[in-house]
Amino acid sequence: MDRQKLIIDTDPGQDDAIAIMLALASPHIDLLGIIAAAGNVSVEQTAENACKILELAKRQDIKVYKGCPRPIRRPPITAQHVHGQTGMDGPDLPTPLHTPEQQHGVTFLLETLAAHPAHTITLVTIGPMTNLAAALVQAPETVARLKQVVAMGGAWSETGNITPAAEFNAFADPDAMAIALNSGLPVTLVPLDITHRFLITPDRLEALAKLPGHCAKAAHAMLTFSARFDLNKYGWPGAPLHDPCTIGYVLCPHLFAGKTINVEVEVSSPLTLGATVVDWWQVTGRPPNATFLRSVDDNGLWTLILESLSRLS
Ligand code: RIB
Ligand code: CA
Repeated sequence: MDRQKLIIDTDPGQDDAIAIMLALASPHIDLLGIIAAAGNVSVEQTAENACKILELAKRQDIKVYKGCPRPIRRPPITAQHVHGQTGMDGPDLPTPLHTPEQQHGVTFLLETLAAHPAHTITLVTIGPMTNLAAALVQAPETVARLKQVVAMGGAWSETGNITPAAEFNAFADPDAMAIALNSGLPVTLVPLDITHRFLITPDRLEALAKLPGHCAKAAHAMLTFSARFDLNKYGWPGAPLHDPCTIGYVLCPHLFAGKTINVEVEVSSPLTLGATVVDWWQVTGRPPNATFLRSVDDNGLWTLILESLSRLS
């Protein structure tokens, strides 16, 4: 099987870090580059965090590009209360030797799409969708060369995590998600309806702690740190693990199920800003614009992640 060409747009974020590790570990993925997004923390910090992950995995061959420093329209928000001051608290990671590229992340995305055959590159977004939206505004015909977009974001039956109505990536830049959903691109959403069914229970954390290698040890420290917030908030037997579900879908779509329907985003109401309005029962007559995933084989996904992390140094 040919390796899937991927660009990851990310706001590390402990869960982002594990998604990146999953991509690095897979022989079926050719990671063309990482675009740092403003989200969990500032774009400067997410870019440094991405460099730290690549340093840890000894993959300095992969380049990091800083994207937009703020959302399309809204004032920036961050999530240090979940992820810690660095955005990736937990492990003590050394300052990375290599730094982000000078080229802007949106320029990297557009130039890479122009340089590759059409419909061969998958963009995985695991933070606010600002950079994709900016690229769509700048050069929609170039962005149309994407094979697909797989985005962690939104919610239906799980409503929200950063507000009662909205998931963080959608809430942080609702205009960007609306632009992406109405771009005509093939978008697959990996929402809270999936990630709230993928819980890192104590026995899964224990299995992770037993893996060899620095990456697995760092992943364990990251999840142990970020779980404290969710365990206290939800009272579930484990904390939900969000972003790696996107890479799991790219690698093993058979572990997931969903429907192609219409999804719209609330971009103005102060009460429900960022809410994704999911027409699962197709009652609005609005044209389908996204594949919305709603079920996952969580044991199969965990096996994939554990097996992948065991292969990293
Ligand atoms: O709502 C979860 C999403 O918000 C994840 O991408 C997490 O990293 C945060 O960015
Ligand atoms: Ca993220």
